[in-house]
Amino acid sequence: MNKSDAATTPVANISAATRQALLAMPKAELHLHIEGTLEPELALELARRNDVQLPWDSLDDLRSQYSFENLQSFLDLYYQLMAVLRTADDFCDLMLAYLARASADGVRHAEIFFDPQVHLDNGLDFDTVVDGLLEGLRLGGERYGISGGLILSIVRDKPIESAQHVIDLAERRAHDLLGIGLDSAEVGYPPSLFEECFSRARAMGLHCVAHAGEEGPADYVEQALDLLHAERIDHGVHAIDSDEITARLAYDRIALTMCPLSNRRLQVISDLRDLPIRRFLDRGVAATVNSDDPAYFGGYIGANYQALAEIGFSLDELCGFAKNSISYSFADEERKHQLLSEFAEWKQNTAENV
Ligand code: ADE
Ligand code: ZN
Repeated sequence: MNKSDAATTPVANISAATRQALLAMPKAELHLHIEGTLEPELALELARRNDVQLPWDSLDDLRSQYSFENLQSFLDLYYQLMAVLRTADDFCDLMLAYLARASADGVRHAEIFFDPQVHLDNGLDFDTVVDGLLEGLRLGGERYGISGGLILSIVRDKPIESAQHVIDLAERRAHDLLGIGLDSAEVGYPPSLFEECFSRARAMGLHCVAHAGEEGPADYVEQALDLLHAERIDHGVHAIDSDEITARLAYDRIALTMCPLSNRRLQVISDLRDLPIRRFLDRGVAATVNSDDPAYFGGYIGANYQALAEIGFSLDELCGFAKNSISYSFADEERKHQLLSEFAEWKQNTAENV
């Protein structure tokens, strides 16, 4: 058995009732890249529909690419496959496919990243992307009752002018956006580079979040807080290396959007049990559980909760993550109240069955 096989082996069997309960549990997804929900089947279908040439012509051929050594090896495939997304309908279809899966996993609210710089480089208009995604969210809202919004994510390893350009474009569509984020290859691209972009986005009324401490050091988490005024930290795994920064996250009530299956697949950790999520809990840091790029990492949000159950997290602990996901979302107070009531109702109906 090689290292990654070992890392995907469950250590405890959880009952079918617990599995089902974790799927039905009302929750919010706060760390999800819409382009990371592009399943290989849909990628090949869109490539045919849009006459885009990919180096892989069969599903098996494409699937054989899904083994990653680190963040960069994943990003190479992720950006390459984005070339199949060409029209507003493509983005709408992608969003609807995600929301259907999310709904089956109990997601009631979703805050969704997209990477406009990559689509602009592929020759698309900003409005094509935003319009398609918003239409998908609208239809998905009607169909599944899921609320949510879009977080424009800056691709940090592209030239800074490209980041500034999407902030210019966002100005006109700020009312259609929920927030600004920062993603892609982390090491060598510290948050300090993006202070001005975030300050402009904040002035537009956008919420601020940033990937930090996924592969980068705890210092990047501190920069994201000090310079970008991040309201949540995406991943944040390496914050645990600094007692001071961990204490600050707890004191300032900054939630981490953690992604267990992603961190394992990208070898941020070699075993799920090494994820510092319980250590964060013990130190009073609010954590949430999310799927990041589920089409690439072997499971949607329900599978991430189930994986934590398999390594011994109790139902109470998992409920805490789900409640955090609602409380630390950017939904308005009325929606949060509604979702927390749904959660309480689910808990009452579920407790005796698992
Ligand atoms: N873009 C998509 N997924 C990402 C991840 N896990 N880290 C950084 N950038 C990303
Ligand atoms: Zn991410």
